[in-house]
Amino acid sequence: MKILVINGPNLNLLGIREPEIYGKKNYHDLVQYIDEMADELNVNVTTFQSNTEGEIVNRIQEAYFEKVDGIIINPAAYTHTSIAIPDAIKAVGIPAVEVHLTDITKREEYRQKSYTKEACIKTFMGNGFTAYLDGMKYLLDNAKFID
Ligand code: DQA
Repeated sequence: MKILVINGPNLNLLGIREPEIYGKKNYHDLVQYIDEMADELNVNVTTFQSNTEGEIVNRIQEAYFEKVDGIIINPAAYTHTSIAIPDAIKAVGIPAVEVHLTDITKREEYRQKSYTKEACIKTFMGNGFTAYLDGMKYLLDNAKFID
């Protein structure tokens, strides 16, 4: 199974960025965690990070031509603002899981709305890096049943 993990703006600054909220581990640690979990699950994973909405849309479109089986996406702040990202997920028709390090439902009011959610088959949030593992397992169990 081919999975693409997409991380949005400021996630490259993990470890530096508000460690009291996002933890002390850095972005390299996150990518390493994703790679290790993917190895254990026998999943072929590629990780992509961008601070730019259009680049994320382009990467989702490329995934269609690469015949990616599933997408795990943490759109970061674009979760709450972007229509183009869920549109792209719907356009390519690849099963996608939304993940967040923090529980956005328990944070500021402006984080309560996720536009990404409606384009995804599942959301995992609030448990740090574990959301990415949960996302991979969920895609493994469910993506094959989705056309
Ligand atoms: C986040 C939550 C978003 O509200 C925030 O803008 C982020 C990270 C998370 O993983 O908890 O950048 O997506």
